Amino acid sequence: MTGRFITFEGIDGAGKSSHIPRLADWLQAQGRTVLVTREPGGTPLAETLRECLLHQSMDAMTEALLVFAARRDHLQQQIRPALEAGHTVLCDRFTDATFAYQGAGRGFDLKVLTQLEAWVQSGLQPDLTFLFDLPSAQAAQRRAAVRAADRFEAQDENFFDRVRSGYQLRRAAQPGRFALLDASQTPAEVWTQLRRALEARGW
Ligand code: TYD
Repeated sequence: MTGRFITFEGIDGAGKSSHIPRLADWLQAQGRTVLVTREPGGTPLAETLRECLLHQSMDAMTEALLVFAARRDHLQQQIRPALEAGHTVLCDRFTDATFAYQGAGRGFDLKVLTQLEAWVQSGLQPDLTFLFDLPSAQAAQRRAAVRAADRFEAQDENFFDRVRSGYQLRRAAQPGRFALLDASQTPAEVWTQLRRALEARGW
């Protein structure tokens, strides 16, 4: 694989989504071919599963199986071919979200998630993961200002505290893959942090 696989993570309301198109423009201006995509989603099948996940009630195991089913299709149809072609893939959420939301948030067995990760990804991990970190109370204020909540966004602050801790655990296990961003700052300041993290990697 010659391309670069970059993922964006954080609790709902952390502000990651606005930075993805901006980074895509910046990379394209440097002559890179960029695939912007998201999880759950990124293929017709995975987008159908996303609708189920966000709006239908189900238990944590069903959630975990559906996100990994969507991920498998996304990897086969979009992510792997793009990386093999040397493109840069910018993906709004990936498997860290499963460990944070289904694992830490819902309390689903992390060992099972680790097994599913190994089966579905065959060792493929992002080259870089931006973790947009901010306190859950601040994220809740931002969410309330912009949109109606889906099944995940409707969870209480304790849930998002656990999700935030879940992300920190993933980062502690693979520190070299993560760039931690202080998402409580202004969008301009967060963008500067993000650019610095790329520069630090010589990208
Ligand atoms: P999100 O990426 O925040 O999109 P939007 O900004 O359009 O709301 O929404 C996806 C939701 O799915 C988010 O609440 C987290 C959840 N999710 C999981 O629970 N597990 C996963 O593995 C993934 C990828 C997402």
